[in-house]
Amino acid sequence: MPSHNQICIYGRKDMQPVAAGASMEKVTNDIFNVGVNDYDADFFEGQFDLESGMAYNSYLILDDKTAVMDSVGEELQDAWLSNINEVLQGAAPDYLIVQHMEPDHSANIDIFMERYPEAVLITSAKAASMISQFFGTDYSDRSIIVGDGSELTLGKHILHFMTAPMVHWPEVIVTYDETDRVLFSADGFGKFGTTDADEEWTDEAARYYFGIVGKYGANVQALLKKVSSLDIRTICSLHGPVLTGDLSSYINLYDTWSSYRPEIEGVLIAYCSVYGHTEAAAVELSERLHEHGCDDVVLADLTMCDMSEVISYAFRYDRLVLASTTYNGDVFPAMREFLAGLAERGFKSRRIGLLENGSWAPTAARCMQKRLEGCKELAYADTIVKITSALDEASIAQIEALAAELAR
Ligand code: FEO
Repeated sequence: MPSHNQICIYGRKDMQPVAAGASMEKVTNDIFNVGVNDYDADFFEGQFDLESGMAYNSYLILDDKTAVMDSVGEELQDAWLSNINEVLQGAAPDYLIVQHMEPDHSANIDIFMERYPEAVLITSAKAASMISQFFGTDYSDRSIIVGDGSELTLGKHILHFMTAPMVHWPEVIVTYDETDRVLFSADGFGKFGTTDADEEWTDEAARYYFGIVGKYGANVQALLKKVSSLDIRTICSLHGPVLTGDLSSYINLYDTWSSYRPEIEGVLIAYCSVYGHTEAAAVELSERLHEHGCDDVVLADLTMCDMSEVISYAFRYDRLVLASTTYNGDVFPAMREFLAGLAERGFKSRRIGLLENGSWAPTAARCMQKRLEGCKELAYADTIVKITSALDEASIAQIEALAAELAR
C-alpha cells in the first residue's frame, strides 16, 4: 500500500507574548532589524493561517545620517519605537524610508514623524499620496520623492532606489545598499512566521508568495530583471528571516514561481467529498498514479486543508487533479473557493485531470472547467472520471485510464 502525503493543518503551537525588542538583530555592522516578531498572530491579513506567528521587519542603518526603513503594524508600535531607541540610544533618526504603504509596514508613519520632528520621509510619489490618504497629513515639506535611479548618501552607505510596482502594491520601492550589498526587498522574498521560527524557508515562503504576490508574476519578473546586475550578498525582506549565504536558490525559486513554471514534478489531487465516496476515488487515483511511477502525489481535502497551502501546492506542482461532488448543480463550496483562488492568481500552463461525482446529474467536471476558462495553457486529460454515487467497475477503469494519462 503506497503512502500518501496529506496536507492539512489541524492545530497550531502555543504562542508566546510579544516582548519589546524581541526580534532585534544585527544584520551587518551598521544595519539592524528593529522590527517586531508577533508571536500571538493567528492570521495574516485576517485570512492566512499562521502556525509560527509573523515577522514585521524594519531596518535601521547607522551612519553619519541614520535611516529607518519602513515601520510595523499599529499594534506593534511600542516595541518598534523601543527597538529604534535602543539602537540609537536616544538619538533621533534622520530619515524614514517608506518602501510600502500597506498598513502592516506603514501604520506608524505619523507617530514617527511626530516623535522625530526633524526627520524626513523618503518615498515614491505614489506612496506620498497614499500617506495623505491614510493619515490626512501633508508631509510635502518634509519629504524627498524618489524613483528609479534616485540615490541617497547617508555617509559611507549609498542607497539606490528602484520602483517595484505591484510587488505588491503600486507604490512599492526597493532599496539597494551598495556599501553592504544589501537588497531591501519590501514584501519580496517574504515568508510567514517569525524571524526565529524553526522551519525551512521554502514552504512558508511559497505559501506567502502565492497568497500575497502570486497574481503579479510579471511584475516580480520585472523586478528580478531590474536587480539582476546588482551584487547582492544579503536580502532583507519586510517579512521572515534575513537571507544570507548562497542566495541563488531563493532567487531561482522566485524566478520559477513568478514565471508560473512548475517547481515540482508531481500530482496534487484536490478533492471535496461529502460522504467519502469522492475521497475514496481520490485515494484510488493516488494509488494508481504510484503504480504508474508517480512518486510525488499529494492528496488535499479542500474542506480540511488551509486553502492558501493547497493553492501554493497547485502552483508548485506540474499536474493537478480536481475531484468534486456535484452540489446544487455546481461544485462543492470549498472547490469553488479553491478554483477562484487559482483563477484570480493567473493559474496557467498545467496539466489537469477531472473527476466528478453525482448521484443523479453529475456536472462538476464541466463546472470546474468553466471556472478555470480564463486560465491560459491548461491541458486537460482526455479521460474524465464520472462516478454516480460510489466507485464501481466502470469508474475504476476510468481512474486507471486517467492515472495512465497523467503519468505520461
Ligand atoms: Fe507586508 Fe504588502 O505588505
